[in-house]
Amino acid sequence: MYHHKIAIVGSTGLVGRTVLKVLEETSLPHCTYTLFSSAKSAGTKVTFMGTTYVICKLTEDSFHEHFDYAIFCAGGTVSKKYAPIAATNGCTVIDNSSVFRMDPNVPLVVPEVNPEKIKDQKGIIANPNCSTIQAVVPLKPLEDTYGIKRIVYSTYQAVSGAGRAGILDLENGREGNEPKKFPYSIVDNCLPHIDVFLPNGYTKEEMKMINETRKILAKPNLPITATAVRVPIKNCHGESINVELEKDFDLYDIKQLLQNSPGILVVDDPDKNYYPLATKAEGTDDVYVGRIRRDESVPNGLNLWVVADNLRKGAASNAVQILAKCLELEK
Ligand SMILES: NC(=O)c1ccc[n+]([C@@H]2O[C@H](COP(=O)([O-])OP(=O)(O)OC[C@H]3O[C@@H](n4cnc5c(N)ncnc54)[C@H](OP(=O)(O)O)[C@@H]3O)[C@@H](O)[C@H]2O)c1
Repeated sequence: MYHHKIAIVGSTGLVGRTVLKVLEETSLPHCTYTLFSSAKSAGTKVTFMGTTYVICKLTEDSFHEHFDYAIFCAGGTVSKKYAPIAATNGCTVIDNSSVFRMDPNVPLVVPEVNPEKIKDQKGIIANPNCSTIQAVVPLKPLEDTYGIKRIVYSTYQAVSGAGRAGILDLENGREGNEPKKFPYSIVDNCLPHIDVFLPNGYTKEEMKMINETRKILAKPNLPITATAVRVPIKNCHGESINVELEKDFDLYDIKQLLQNSPGILVVDDPDKNYYPLATKAEGTDDVYVGRIRRDESVPNGLNLWVVADNLRKGAASNAVQILAKCLELEK
């Protein structure tokens, strides 16, 4: 039986550690793992799948050893430099950074939405942005059944989306310390500022959501706008998604459609105060959809409130699901 060799790059970060956890839960058959970090964490030990692993320092030689797959979760600079080296050495990279997402030669994959794109890969598969992933999971069945005419995103994003440094800003800020990651204290605050500002006045995070949604839904001209906001919660992003559909709909049918679509859990009973919550989504892989109601201000308008664990479905679990699909395709 062939054993797949898998590298996890950035295995000590928030996403990397979540990848290890998801891999333990998924237990892909016949895989062996090597865990990489920067010099800072290299040499430290972690217990993974019941074995003690020593974290290896990532160097230019690391991919001289053959790996079948690598999950990269060490940020854009590392991906830009090392993912092409890995790919050239015959390794298929599943990359969590934004570096390759809009490259026309790189599939941008959410397994519930466009798994068929995996077979087009030429060495690198991109994992979309966390806020995009949880949005397109419910948007895909709506697009397939009713057609999407326009989308308005407003996000409420957890500090873990900014890595370990984001969590530290919230925790240390609660003790009265100055922020190091965010430009202002995130304590008792909402910052309408995620990633850098671009010349058009949008942030890079907002443009990622717009461009990645278009690519994943294969609608390059779809009108979309977005406002991305950092909120003082540790984990799980919330999103208000306002969508105009091409065809008229019945709300009951929309709820049934979403409930029966892969990866979605509809939590929507206002009489019982049932709606998606970060505290319920935490630690799970589902995309929670609720507050499903008509936007009465436009024809065929629909409002959704969507919550998911940004470290799991928004990053680690989506990457592991892509890996599992790749292994399946080999059979
Ligand atoms: N957080 C999220 O919700 C989220 C969601 C989707 C995508 N992403 C993306 O996933 C990536 C990782 O994010 P994160 O939140 O996990 O960040 P993080 O908590 O800051 O972790 C960064 C990881 O990268 C490693 N690293 C840094 N420089 C390195 C180098 N030169 N060589 C090798 N490893 C290096 C770090 O190792 P040390 O321990 O040695 O420092 C650590 O393991 C980013 O591209 C991010 O945009 C994050």
